Amino acid sequence: MKLLSLSFHNHTLIITINRPDKLNALNKTVIEELSVAIDDVYNNAEIKSAVITGSGAKAFVAGADISEFAALDAKGGKAMAEKGQMQVFNKIEHCPKPVIAAVNGFALGGGCELAMACHFRVASDNAKFGQPEVNLGLIPGYGGTQRLTQLIGKGRAMELLMTGSMIDAPAALQYGLVNYVVPQEELMNKALSVTELINTKAPLAIAGCIKAVNAVFEENKNGYETEINIFGELFDTADAKEGAAAFLEKRQPVFKGL
Ligand code: COA
Repeated sequence: MKLLSLSFHNHTLIITINRPDKLNALNKTVIEELSVAIDDVYNNAEIKSAVITGSGAKAFVAGADISEFAALDAKGGKAMAEKGQMQVFNKIEHCPKPVIAAVNGFALGGGCELAMACHFRVASDNAKFGQPEVNLGLIPGYGGTQRLTQLIGKGRAMELLMTGSMIDAPAALQYGLVNYVVPQEELMNKALSVTELINTKAPLAIAGCIKAVNAVFEENKNGYETEINIFGELFDTADAKEGAAAFLEKRQPVFKGL
């Protein structure tokens, strides 16, 4: 693993995304490595649960790596969303063992989506959540439009998606996006205390809980497909090129509706 650090706490695998200089942004390597790490959670009998977190005190994950966007057109954008959403984030969501997000700072864009793909979330008091893709002329592509709506409801999801605004940890708690907010130094202990409790329960019953709760949302899978298609199409717009260029050049974008 180049960009993930893996460690064990009893039977819990701690997966730390380790790119703090880029606020743990999800580049292709991180996505590939997350996929491998989650496969291990599925297959390794020694692992009973997993916690995903980010390295450093500032960010969980500040989104997909915007520097990789310049090379993408509609086809590439669609492929990126399909791969991340279907091969990695869905795999996390359907993992038969609990996968908990320990959100230690910014969880933006793909970072918020990663946290939402986990079975539930514990946050530090400095955590901030948002889907700022509209600032880049895009929409979420890793399931964010669907899971945000499932977790916080339509009106709040619509507002967060359309404004691109961030919410802080107390608001995330109030919205039901996270289960706990704790001081940053207590974050991992809190997450591990919950996984430790779950690790004592019957593994097949835990897998059954995950499968049954996920089944509530199985009926409407079209939303994920719609998200992938729109995410891809937007990469052929001038505004998406302008959005990514503006971020990397550290300036405000000028959108033209083209
Ligand atoms: N992709 C690529 N690089 C990113 C990134 C991302 N999503 N988020 C942060 N970075 C990089 C920055 O470019 C910067 O790199 P540099 O030091 O080489 O210039 C470094 O991480 C630190 O980020 P910076 O923006 O300087 O930190 P900040 O404290 O001023 O702002 C954020 C923090 C999270 C508000 C800001 O980084 C941000 O808005 N990130 C993008 C969020 C986003 O749009 N995510 C959705 C992507 S689809």
